[in-house]
Amino acid sequence: MVGVCIAAILLRSLPVAAGFAADGERSVVAGLACSEARPMLHFTPPKNWINDPNGLIWFDGEYHLFYQYNPEGDQWGHMSWGHAVSRDLLSWEHLPLAIPEAGGVMAFSGTAVFDRTNSSGLGKPGRPPLIAIFTGHDGAAHVQHQNLAFSLDRGRTWTRYAGNPVLDLGESDFRDPKVFWHAPSGRWIMVVSLAAQKRALFFASPDLKAWTKLSEFGPEGRGGVPNWECPDLFEMPVEGEPGETRWLLVNSVGGNGPTGGPACQYFVGRFDGERFENENGADTVLWLDGGKDFYAFQSYQDEPSGKRIGIAWMADPWYAGATPTSPWRCSMTLPREFRLVRTAEGLRLAQRPVEGLESFLRDRGAQETQFERRGMHPGDSPTGATGEVAMIRAAFEPHGAERFGLRVLEGGGDSTVVGYDAAIGEIYLDRSRSGRVDFHPDFGARFGAPLAVGADGRVTLTVVVDRGSVEVFGNDGMTTLSGLVFPGGGHTGISVFAEGGDLGLATVRILSISPE
Ligand code: FRU
Repeated sequence: MVGVCIAAILLRSLPVAAGFAADGERSVVAGLACSEARPMLHFTPPKNWINDPNGLIWFDGEYHLFYQYNPEGDQWGHMSWGHAVSRDLLSWEHLPLAIPEAGGVMAFSGTAVFDRTNSSGLGKPGRPPLIAIFTGHDGAAHVQHQNLAFSLDRGRTWTRYAGNPVLDLGESDFRDPKVFWHAPSGRWIMVVSLAAQKRALFFASPDLKAWTKLSEFGPEGRGGVPNWECPDLFEMPVEGEPGETRWLLVNSVGGNGPTGGPACQYFVGRFDGERFENENGADTVLWLDGGKDFYAFQSYQDEPSGKRIGIAWMADPWYAGATPTSPWRCSMTLPREFRLVRTAEGLRLAQRPVEGLESFLRDRGAQETQFERRGMHPGDSPTGATGEVAMIRAAFEPHGAERFGLRVLEGGGDSTVVGYDAAIGEIYLDRSRSGRVDFHPDFGARFGAPLAVGADGRVTLTVVVDRGSVEVFGNDGMTTLSGLVFPGGGHTGISVFAEGGDLGLATVRILSISPE
């Protein structure tokens, strides 16, 4: 730790350029109180750069998380598939590199399937394969094509299929295949992006090797976006309506999202094994998350309880390379569980943090604090809890307050504000004074997303704080906001605030872990 502190002092005197790893600096800001900024609940690689989650699949008791990884450094490059496994989606075992860049062809994003019947013939008797379907990015030839790799040892080692690529249109922006088994038509389906054209293409195959084109979808939803990436397609039950299901088509758009930058949008509709029909107007725009750091979402295949659980890359591609962490750069979001809920506007996704988060925190010594206040005048009120890692469940009755909510990671005049703005009906994250914000002009701002006060007159917020990030789930997760933050070490205060009028009621339950 002493070494880290000295490094921090040295680093502080150097200019912070994009991509410069100045992790130790927050220790200096905190007055030499060295604290480890690595998240506890969010996946990070031991070192180097990561981006999209890839190949999310549950198999034989393990959740696999493959991810876009640069084995050679802490900036994007040499893209390969890194690998980790977990039994609870919160503690991860790091495994060796799964699929490296080969012959100048990078291994871009994709998915993994369990080929139960050995339809591909890549398994051995009694040993059906796990198969990764990924984009080969051939920079020299300006081509992106789809490829297979297979594993016969529970994902521990991977072999590239000798007949790669399995799908090549000679296109330069053709990537991120999501493949799944479609039982009604008894074949594999692939949805893959023609990114620059903002189109999702659908293909079918009996064996994962020979693909036939079925249809196309798009552009629809948000206009003016630079590209579509990372499509996902899955069926979900409509909550509380037995027998009703819908298909969700999700993709990542490289700009013009709810905060102006990259984001994930989704479409609700039907998929008949051939074609996706959006049941909303082509201009209806639905966002998976209203924050700045939620991109390249993908959901788990073969989840044993049938839940739909997904993970996104917790970063904004526009400034990810400049975020001040070391020796790793970037993390994943919390795994989230999705529900499809009927609302007055139509069917919408609601989200919550993965089950087991509370017991995970308790097992690591989290303290519980209850705070309740009726008729709070404008101002701040400490909750009595501190934490650099926390799960907070809060309910507020606004009355006259114009803005109210929580300040977290508070200290030295800084805090990250998780608020509700009653005048415009939105939850917001304000990180303009959250600590280190100077590494990129897009970072230090307030952003928000619409959320109506509940029918019971309350606004509820579930907030997960994890040293370097805050994820907010408003009113049962009907609106979520995700944001990275880089607070000073020792900035652990948690308080309630009201502005512009009285707050009728604030009840807050906090499970939190403070630094030693
Ligand atoms: C999304 C993305 C994907 C691509 C990968 C490359 O962040 O651009 O479209 O496959 O990253 O790392």
